[in-house]
Amino acid sequence: MCGITGFTGKEPALPFLLQGLSRLEYRGYDSAGITLVNSKKLRTWKTKGRLAELEKLLQKDLTQSCGIGHTRWATHGVPSNMNAHPHMNEACTISVVHNGIVENYAVLKEELIKEGYHFHSETDSEVIVQLLDYYYSKKPVMKDALIKTVKRLEGSYALCITTIFEPNTIYVAKKESPMVLGQSKEGVFCASDAPALLAYTKDIMPLQDGQMAILNKNSLELFDQNGKSIQPKFIHFPYDIQAAQKGGYDSFMMKEIHEQPDVIRETLRGRFRGNKIVLPKIDELKADWNSISNTVFIACGTAYHACIYANSLYQKYTGKPSSVIPASEFRYCDPNVDEHTLCIFVSQSGETADTLAALKLAKAKGCTTIAVVNVLGSSIARQTDAVLYTAAGPEIAVASTKAYTTQLVLLHVLILKLAELYGIKVNGISRLIKDMKRLPELTEETLGYEKEIKKYAKMLKDQRDAYFIGRQLDYPSALEGALKLKEVSYVHADAYYAGELKHGPIALIEKNTVVIALATQPEIAAKTISNIKETVARGARVILITDPDMDAKEFKYVIRIPKMRPELMAIPSAVLTQLFAYYAAKEKGCDIDKPRNLAKSVTVE
Ligand code: AGP
Repeated sequence: MCGITGFTGKEPALPFLLQGLSRLEYRGYDSAGITLVNSKKLRTWKTKGRLAELEKLLQKDLTQSCGIGHTRWATHGVPSNMNAHPHMNEACTISVVHNGIVENYAVLKEELIKEGYHFHSETDSEVIVQLLDYYYSKKPVMKDALIKTVKRLEGSYALCITTIFEPNTIYVAKKESPMVLGQSKEGVFCASDAPALLAYTKDIMPLQDGQMAILNKNSLELFDQNGKSIQPKFIHFPYDIQAAQKGGYDSFMMKEIHEQPDVIRETLRGRFRGNKIVLPKIDELKADWNSISNTVFIACGTAYHACIYANSLYQKYTGKPSSVIPASEFRYCDPNVDEHTLCIFVSQSGETADTLAALKLAKAKGCTTIAVVNVLGSSIARQTDAVLYTAAGPEIAVASTKAYTTQLVLLHVLILKLAELYGIKVNGISRLIKDMKRLPELTEETLGYEKEIKKYAKMLKDQRDAYFIGRQLDYPSALEGALKLKEVSYVHADAYYAGELKHGPIALIEKNTVVIALATQPEIAAKTISNIKETVARGARVILITDPDMDAKEFKYVIRIPKMRPELMAIPSAVLTQLFAYYAAKEKGCDIDKPRNLAKSVTVE
């Protein structure tokens, strides 16, 4: 996710560009840049770091009235001055900012290098400006060059382009990454999201996939990928800036819960070729896979719960020995790891002190190390032998939601890749991959249960405790559901293996105790159902999360997850328990995005 702004009009562009980028920093903030253009020159300033670093580079009297800006959330190429946007062609006559992922950038880069082009960054985005240069050099019409360029791009993009050949014009294109246009008597605007525009205009128009636009000082032309003209339709945007930054939701947590279908789609993008798993970073890892005698998953908090899920899948798919150790314990438990051990570290921030300390010990013991992180270029990402990135984008709420579900998804892909490298065939992999590709829509469908969950959360109004129970792959879901509830609503919650209740914890169950039961695994669900009945017999109010085929007529509060392979049900289960925690916290008037005592990244031991 990155932030883009663009303006052309009667006024200087710089104030809008900077103001807009500051409103979009929640979309990415590891580097920033702008291009300003007039009839004589196209000038670009860009730097690693936050917007304030960029502002230090800018003179105050920059009056050019056409320009584009970008604040980056790195996906390809670590945060650096060279990798920051905008990217320009060699002749510095064209400048581009991009939000999205060009899946086929390597192929395009190869082609352009053969045509004599040189590349200066590690980004996928740089191929876009070089392609534009290539097509423009064949026929100097930027609209045609843009149409030809986007036809070659596979993946997602929101683009803004300026060129010295048309110093008052901005070209825009959109596919799967957001772009909105705005207009006022000052000029015409574009941005990744409405908050950037609202101080200047509330008349906005979200672009649709495949649409392109040509913005001039006081006019705009809208057309489709065949160049066919489209009538622009502006709407009056109903929200203020703060609400717009949260996508119209009342908290970043709720916005991020609803972003999960999109970020799961981005995390899965390009990972499958038929039944083959596409993870080049793992293919390039120099590891003797046959000599790996054990695998250890290591993380903290929510990421630790993702490791418990991954550990179960690893054993199911590969049959090889593995374990999970909380990072805060790893360096004190004299772990039995050595050069024949694969250690997999999971971290949203990539900066968690306990996880970093565990990584240091694992490396000292000669382990092969892989990281699954969300922040490109973070400390953990830089120190492991290979790193895979979730595409969750910046996660602003302290309680992790979209980072967790994208960790589950990417760990699942990684384990399928490891099975491939071990030469092990995973039964039913075609159906599994088919269902994985449907996860964005299945997650969207699961969000449809929000109203029921909101109703069920009211049960906690007078409760101080809640219990989450599940077996097998439902157990990490129970752990994560309990953590989410504790984090945001301060209701005490515990998670138990359902089969463990009768060995003690059931003593806690009394009339009206709230139990969230997860029974999504068909092979074991009947056992779980009988455990749940034990709690009902003692007066518990049970909210059952189960699959469509489960016989649950005895239960009053039932949420049925959409049909999919049971190994994937942890993802919709997480979405449901996130919503449950959110509404429980709302009921109690808690600070949803910044819960008491918590930090987003625990960089101290
Ligand atoms: C999750 O809701 C918590 N904020 C916390 O448990 C977090 O998952 C943990 O601190 C690990 O952080 P990391 O993923 O950035 O390493």
